[in-house]
Amino acid sequence: MRAVAIIPAAGRGERMRSDRPKVLTPIRGRPLLAWTLEPILGIDAFLEVFIAYPPGEEHVIGQVIGQDFPDELRVRLVHGGQTRQESVANCLARVPADIDLVAIHDGARPLLTKQLLLNVLECANETGAAIAAVPCKDSIKICNEEGTVTATLDREKLKLVQTPQCFRRELIVAAHEKAERDGYLGTDDSVLVERMGATVHVVMGSYENIKVTTPGDIILCEEVLRRRRL
Ligand code: C5P
Repeated sequence: MRAVAIIPAAGRGERMRSDRPKVLTPIRGRPLLAWTLEPILGIDAFLEVFIAYPPGEEHVIGQVIGQDFPDELRVRLVHGGQTRQESVANCLARVPADIDLVAIHDGARPLLTKQLLLNVLECANETGAAIAAVPCKDSIKICNEEGTVTATLDREKLKLVQTPQCFRRELIVAAHEKAERDGYLGTDDSVLVERMGATVHVVMGSYENIKVTTPGDIILCEEVLRRRRL
């Protein structure tokens, strides 16, 4: 299996109430991005790891990698886009044609484990497309602009979708090309593959695999990583 990883990490992180990019937020003495990279770089099957960096921050991101992973030669820094989708597309454009599988994981999910990534990768290797997701614990309702409920969805069928999301290279490249042609903007990569009519398989994710969005999420990360004794 010839695989690469793509890490969209170019978000500005406005909801973190910080002027520095979210992926540079310190957690237990290391930048958030270093925690995200650890399990990814621990997988030898990844021949290259593409990181979409926030424009203007290439130098700082390069320093983080040099400090935390000084012997690592597989990391490639790619200019981030205006949207997450564009950041992933910029990375996909750099993936060599002889690669079979592409794993995509949000830079802002530092609690990823190597085992979860391997599970999703293995499923994609067998099926072509796999994503991590967890059952929805809360009820989800559609509400209108007046703030009243218009519908309640069937919770049994609902999943909270995460990354990693892994795909055969040709499939994810074609899915991004189609989205660009159609002017379609999705919130994850799976939806672009779904629009191709392809089947996407769901692998059990982890409730700990949160996307850091607000300052409170950092406290949670600190605690989980302390418990894991990392
Ligand atoms: O906030 P959002 O759900 O879009 O962020 C998911 C991931 O996408 C984060 O890791 C963030 O850094 C990344 N992103 C990106 N380029 C953007 C916006 C977000 O790589 N323009």
